[in-house]
Amino acid sequence: MSSSEQPVPFSTVLRTASSEEHAAAETSSFMAHLLGGRLGVEAYAELSGQLWFVYRALEGRAAALAGDPVVGPLIDPALMRTAALERDLAHLLGPGWRAGLTPLPATAAYAARLEELAEQWPGGYLAHHYTRYLGDLSGGQIIRGAAERTWGFERRGAGVEFYVFAEVANPAAYKREYREKLDAAGLAMDEVERRRVVEECKRAFTLNGALFADLGSRYPLSA
Ligand code: HEM
Repeated sequence: MSSSEQPVPFSTVLRTASSEEHAAAETSSFMAHLLGGRLGVEAYAELSGQLWFVYRALEGRAAALAGDPVVGPLIDPALMRTAALERDLAHLLGPGWRAGLTPLPATAAYAARLEELAEQWPGGYLAHHYTRYLGDLSGGQIIRGAAERTWGFERRGAGVEFYVFAEVANPAAYKREYREKLDAAGLAMDEVERRRVVEECKRAFTLNGALFADLGSRYPLSA
């Protein structure tokens, strides 16, 4: 890079580096069947239940990380999904939802990684924060639409609240600002750390892919 060239913004680096992994997640058979309206509502409920373990691990230490110089600027109560997931699960599975939930092996591995990173490595945590919340604000909206159509949930209502960011007034603007914060975080890292974060981002997608694979084998086509 000559001195006149700007470095590639870190948000672009992350998006580009994970684009193949993103395509694989989108076309996983579980997601394809879900988007195609070919799964029963119990498969959707199970996805929500597995995500509860993921978000509990992701958000359990979020408040403690709010003051961290690397990831702190990205932490925002408006993003938190655990409470919305709990409302969805009560709607989908009834008040006893918690007793019936067990993490699948891929979920347990994903949650363990998140807990480890939240304790030990803010840069790695940032990679997962980006992968989940920007995904939920983007493709998550497509999943919500499919769920509403397929199983008749009220639009943006009970059952799909996980995908509704009620406190984010303008998702497109929010994503722009989020990317600016990612860029600033990247500028504060050295090249070695940036590479490690990119690798962790790919790992985040792989962990999501493994969860879809576990779900896919539990829910082959119902019709
Ligand atoms: C069927 C599943 C999915 C669909 C249809 C989908 C669709 C999309 C679309 C259309 C965008 C672009 C939105 C924009 O530029 O504003 C996007 C972005 C994104 N998606 Fe997905 N997605 C899916 C699954 C996933 C999964 C499983 C993850 C990871 C857990 C994920 C993570 C992301 C991320 C991080 C972005 C932001 C990319 C960036 O601009 O930096 N997506 N998705």
